[in-house]
Amino acid sequence: MGGLRRLEYRGYDSTGVGLVDGDRIAWAKKAGKLANLDAVLEGNALPASTTGIGHTRWATHGAPTDANAHPHLDAADRVAVVHNGIIENFMVLRAELEAAGYEFLSETDTEVVVHLLHRELQQQDDLSEAVRAVCRRLEGAFTLVFADALNPGVVVGARRNSPLVVGRGEGENFLGSDVAAFIDYTAEAIELGQDQVVTITADAIDVTDFHGNPAETTAYTVDWDVTAAEKGGYEWFMTKEIEEQPKAVADTLLGRLDQDGHLQLDEMRLTDDELREIDKIIVIACGTASYAGLVAKYAIEHWTRIPCEVELASEFRYRDPIIDRSTLVVAISQSGETMDTLMAIRYARQQRARVLSICNTNGSTIPRESDAVIYTHAGPEVAVASTKGFLSQVVACYLLGLYLAQAKGVKYGDEISSIIDELHQVPAGIQRMIDEGDQVRKLAAELVDRRSFLFLGRHVGFPVALEGALKLKELAYVHAEGFAAGELKHGPIALVEKGLPMFVVVPPRARDQLQEKILSNIQEVRARGAYTIVLVEDGDDSVVPFADVVIRLPKVPTLLQPLVATVPLQIFACELAELLGHDVDQPRNLAKSVTVE
Ligand code: AGP
Repeated sequence: MGGLRRLEYRGYDSTGVGLVDGDRIAWAKKAGKLANLDAVLEGNALPASTTGIGHTRWATHGAPTDANAHPHLDAADRVAVVHNGIIENFMVLRAELEAAGYEFLSETDTEVVVHLLHRELQQQDDLSEAVRAVCRRLEGAFTLVFADALNPGVVVGARRNSPLVVGRGEGENFLGSDVAAFIDYTAEAIELGQDQVVTITADAIDVTDFHGNPAETTAYTVDWDVTAAEKGGYEWFMTKEIEEQPKAVADTLLGRLDQDGHLQLDEMRLTDDELREIDKIIVIACGTASYAGLVAKYAIEHWTRIPCEVELASEFRYRDPIIDRSTLVVAISQSGETMDTLMAIRYARQQRARVLSICNTNGSTIPRESDAVIYTHAGPEVAVASTKGFLSQVVACYLLGLYLAQAKGVKYGDEISSIIDELHQVPAGIQRMIDEGDQVRKLAAELVDRRSFLFLGRHVGFPVALEGALKLKELAYVHAEGFAAGELKHGPIALVEKGLPMFVVVPPRARDQLQEKILSNIQEVRARGAYTIVLVEDGDDSVVPFADVVIRLPKVPTLLQPLVATVPLQIFACELAELLGHDVDQPRNLAKSVTVE
């Protein structure tokens, strides 16, 4: 159950376990969070067993009910399966199996798998071969893990597009959708590749493709320890991770400048010549990661003069994008497993684009399928709502922009060390925003009954506005919308009414022409009764007459402002969620890594 506790953040609509017990699988499964399963097991303890599988579910097909919870079993409780992903041809398979007399107990796509396996095992006893035969019939994305009462001591897993990793212990081996499942027992991991089947026993690990041919794998040691994945006395992982942001930014910057002041990126497997061929950049990502991409656009275009587009990964490949060998596709993903982003980079590579990923999870699928990677070093991010993951993504985007400038020798290339120096000052600014968090926590209490919030920003303040709104949606389940401040008068200003809370991110004074504009925006909404909460740098008093609340920011260069301006918005959302009695770490309907399209 320890492994399930560590995985629960990835999805928590239901949980379940299946253990080999004599000639059958003993199982328990329950809708809701792991605590519900614990309650079931209190009154009905499962037998001790050395062979078992477990699952925490993020529902795709079928509501989060007991019957739809995993594991799914055959009618005789001989074999059990747990699954992440979507079996896209499950309806055809279900019809075939029902016609053969199989009865289904759930609405899930997964249940077809266990009946297919049961049918295979009527023809042969080799569990691994039977799993391979089943996988050859499946379409879609899947991580599958099986236990068979008649094959005690053996667990078989299979993956296509969805993550699966092996934990290699002393006299015991593990499978998990991420290393958190077994980090309490071993830090030695083995990445599995596409369309592979792995068979583990206590002392052996065998990997093949879906046709039984031996397959290549990559072993690595997990680069974080168990305490990093613990709450460490905090009530919420999110609170801990907000407070880890100064270190996450500092660690992402660490060791990036050599003694000559030359920028170096650890896994940049693209040569300077290849980078000099790049004439277009397309950033693809989802959610919060896409807002890091929007910040990247401003920085990359400013420093490199290369056109940079930002695309939602889920839209990218369906719009027939114009990409070729001179396009650099940058995939930003904290988990490295987001299916929308993974499918987008696969498409980009088919179109011959070069792919660089920015990722926080060593050994995950997206970096493995990229030509180059910049790892952020934020440590494991467990809270579903990303915080340190976002700030470290933004820093990695800056590093990429500077590295490209350096490779292309464009005019900003010789200012790299000064910009890096500025970046090294930012963790102190982030720490200050954390230390001054009480101001926004009090504001959250004051606004606890509000059901709608708007966020405005210009330039790099616009992605900050989008991120602030997303945090509030994710955590407090209230209407929150981010806008480019200049867009307000083109429609959204109709939303403004007396008392409507509006956060406004004001650019540093260095951007005077923007200053005047956003000042007008603040006056426009204030004149209509909005409750203006203005984030503005120290010493800039121009907005004070029009602000109901002023949140002071440290003075930083314009492009770096997202690193400090985002923090109060994270704290506000976290506090409001807590005041509303929500689960801050595991908000309803969400999962940490969305491994389905
Ligand atoms: C962030 O708070 C959200 N949980 C979500 O938008 C997330 O950023 C998105 O799903 C992308 O995840 P990734 O960075 O792991 O790819």
